Amino acid sequence: TLQSSIGQVTLDSYVMNASGPRCSSAEELHLIGRSNAAAIVTKSCTILPREGNAEPRYRDLELGAIQSMGLPNLGYNAYLDLVPELLEHNKPVVVSISGLSLADNETMVKAFDGSDASLLEVNFSCPNIAGKPQTAYDFEQVENSLTRLCSLTDKPLGIKLAPYFDMSHFDSMAEILNRFPIAFISTINSIGNTLIIDPQTERAVIKPKGGFGGLCGQYVKPIGLANVHAFRQRLRDDIDIVGVGGIYNGTDAFEYALAGASAVQVATSFQQQGEGCFQRINDELAALLEAKGYASIKEVIGQLKAF
Ligand code: DHB
Repeated sequence: TLQSSIGQVTLDSYVMNASGPRCSSAEELHLIGRSNAAAIVTKSCTILPREGNAEPRYRDLELGAIQSMGLPNLGYNAYLDLVPELLEHNKPVVVSISGLSLADNETMVKAFDGSDASLLEVNFSCPNIAGKPQTAYDFEQVENSLTRLCSLTDKPLGIKLAPYFDMSHFDSMAEILNRFPIAFISTINSIGNTLIIDPQTERAVIKPKGGFGGLCGQYVKPIGLANVHAFRQRLRDDIDIVGVGGIYNGTDAFEYALAGASAVQVATSFQQQGEGCFQRINDELAALLEAKGYASIKEVIGQLKAF
């Protein structure tokens, strides 16, 4: 069985969409609801509706994608209105919140606390708003934000982290997170501010921010696995980890389970292949578990072997 849970919320399978692609409109969210995805995750919302950054702002690459979308979304009130009808799909609804300030996040956490959303994921790692640093790289701001936000809701609250690349950063961030009543982390977000150059046109492949954008897909899987595993070794047992980054198939999902992920989210593969990816990855994972003699995904989570 692929049954798992995040923050005491039961998931019927191991794979859901990541906040990002194909989850902004009512139509897109209902399509996820009708798919085999374990949950419906909404596009990160802001207080006001946003059109996002100038185009071209997304480019498929050989091993993934680069994007600088700029938080195009309907504004949080639209997602508040959508929660009840999305819950009719009988799976958890995960609302992603990405305020442009702490005050914005406070407003939205309060608002969704008053909704029937199953889980709240506060995004501390959007790299694509010019002039707004990624909160996840400012440890003091993470601590301040959690002090405020955790007091505003009894719902399972999680945060979406940016990738870290130094063991001391895993240590420091885990030490902070362990002091708060958070239910989960989702890691990783795209690798921020990378640059892909087209030698033919002699330009960057996307326009916003002079071409700097978030790197996604197969390029980032080793970084995602490292972040999941490093945090699994450091966080309280009751803080679940949602693995994200370069999951295209059942084997990728299995590797994230070994590293310590209680569930995974899929962005680039969903963007590139559509909602059929959830059934396919879940099926491939189930077949792999059976071939390896595991009765359930829970037997695998966090069981990476040592040499
Ligand atoms: C966007 C990109 C991200 O990686 C993120 O976490 C939030 C928003 C975006 O550009 O829309």
